[in-house]
Amino acid sequence: MKPVIAVCPGSYDPVTYGHVDLIERAARVFDRLIVAVLRNIQKEPLFALAERVEMLKEATRHLENVEIDVFEGLLVDFARKRGAGVVVRGIRAVSDYEYELQMALMNRKMEPQIETVFMLPAETFSYLSSSLVKEIARLGGSVQGLVPPFVEERLKTKVP
Ligand code: PNS
Repeated sequence: MKPVIAVCPGSYDPVTYGHVDLIERAARVFDRLIVAVLRNIQKEPLFALAERVEMLKEATRHLENVEIDVFEGLLVDFARKRGAGVVVRGIRAVSDYEYELQMALMNRKMEPQIETVFMLPAETFSYLSSSLVKEIARLGGSVQGLVPPFVEERLKTKVP
């Protein structure tokens, strides 16, 4: 049987334990998982693309079937190019669903061959987002337990 390749796209600015949890779950379900980092985020990212990739590589080094790649332009074009038939997205709460549904259906309209699969991260991370992590770090709060220690260190250098 053909191996099932999945793409897990995102901004990852920066990677959180919520992302790692989802990537671990998806890596158990699919034969290969490509974590795809969006090059141009609409709003200016805190971390450069190379930094976001480095942190993701570090955070997923224990997962043999996971690779990190970057993309720009349409996600469906990237997935097609990489031979991936599945897009994995995490849904933390009902509030995520509306936007995710819209994106999944639009992606399906553009590329009917690619299926979007929604997965649930551990409920302990249901309140966690990169945006909140950045805000807490910026305002001098602790992000311990929300992101890996090496991300915590990098956040400190960004927001002294
Ligand atoms: O981590 P994020 O910011 O929630 O990820 C959003 C992402 C990267 C999945 C989404 O913005 C995306 O797929 N962008 C690529 C451009 C694209 O394909 N747009 C059409 C979506 S219907």
